[in-house]
Amino acid sequence: MAIHFGNILITAKSGVFKLLLNSALCEKNGRIVFIGSKEEAIVKYKNDNIYDHNGSIILPGLIDLHTHLPQYRAIGIGKGTLLEWLEDYIFPEEEKFKNNKYARAIAKKFFCELVKHGTTTAVIFGPAQKDATDIAFQEAENAGIRLFMGKTIMDTGKTELTSSTKQNISDSLSLFEKWHERNDGLLNYIMLPRYAGSCSLEMMKNAADIAKANRLMIQTHIAENKEEMSYIANLYPEFNSYLDIYEKAGIIGENTQFVHCIYLTKKEIELLRQSGSSIIHCPVSNRYLQSGIMPLNDHLQEAIPVGLGSDIAAGYSFSVFNEAREAIESTKSYNIAHYKKNSPLPPEKALKMATIDAAKILGISKETGSLEVGKSADMLVLDINRIIDDLSKEDTPSLISKIIYRFQDAEIKSVYVRGKTVNDTE
Ligand code: GUN
Ligand code: FE
Repeated sequence: MAIHFGNILITAKSGVFKLLLNSALCEKNGRIVFIGSKEEAIVKYKNDNIYDHNGSIILPGLIDLHTHLPQYRAIGIGKGTLLEWLEDYIFPEEEKFKNNKYARAIAKKFFCELVKHGTTTAVIFGPAQKDATDIAFQEAENAGIRLFMGKTIMDTGKTELTSSTKQNISDSLSLFEKWHERNDGLLNYIMLPRYAGSCSLEMMKNAADIAKANRLMIQTHIAENKEEMSYIANLYPEFNSYLDIYEKAGIIGENTQFVHCIYLTKKEIELLRQSGSSIIHCPVSNRYLQSGIMPLNDHLQEAIPVGLGSDIAAGYSFSVFNEAREAIESTKSYNIAHYKKNSPLPPEKALKMATIDAAKILGISKETGSLEVGKSADMLVLDINRIIDDLSKEDTPSLISKIIYRFQDAEIKSVYVRGKTVNDTE
């Protein structure tokens, strides 16, 4: 029950962002019940507390569609490209999550970082250990964040992160039963076969069956790196393509998100598009590991839904604003590398990918992703004093561009999930 005064970035009926200067947003039981004039808000909701975010902008909370909790301590370390980096730095770090105390300490820090950066919803590859994933859910419940998380499942490869196919599946099922739709629906279970390089076909099939039977999302990595692709082609020689493996396993369709998608063939892109699957773009990670430059404009032209992921720890920033900026810059790098003259990604589209487009991908756009009456009050308050002199002289596209390019000079003051402050932990 609160009235928030501020400059509110709403989405007009046409789907275009629009800034309402000096207005009010009222929230009841976590839902937005009113957006409009301050005077009307005060009359209608006279008994509610007023929070005056004078001079700040209220934006929809950001959605990070792909990140790895047990890689938190590996940010900024290591060298080499994907396969060596995984084996030399990432698997050893993730193995530490057999220690429950360590798992809890890192989970707490991880959620704290997410909300500090304005993320109100995240899709998270959790630990490969069942107990550590359970602990991560407990900490997510304490943090009050909205998320889709699961145990990272792996039954092949040279690491202690693997367990048997049966064990992976029964652990996923019991975590699903315990945590899915808990905390008033803020917590959601997602099936997470790591990638075909860590998963047997049988396990991927089982994971897809569980996702279908229980209407769960499923997410995996694909076509990130050239050596990875040769490795997968050698592991699965009887399949026509990387995506063919997932399709035969049943990992495809509207509940499926494919992370990276840098080197898909035309045929794979067509199959992905027809199936209604989505793509998660992780531009910072793609550069950090020298994986490549994803052809974002091509994917968007195919009308494939695309959202953004921080991909910690291959990505080194928690900020989805940063990912939005790098998504724009990556379309320029692609032009340079391929002698093209396509228009760079417009900043407004980048912000949509960070908010409403992502909510649509997760099937929760009635609940979050934009500031509209009836949705959850998932939002952040951004002090833009350093980056903008006179808001009334700023048109919305240039405002959004300045926020994306100078977010580090704008302070995130408050972050709310369902109307509750989530950034005042620690
Ligand atoms: N492919 C399989 N596992 C991973 C991972 O942890 N990070 C990245 N970037 N790619 C992967
Ligand atoms: Fe990843």
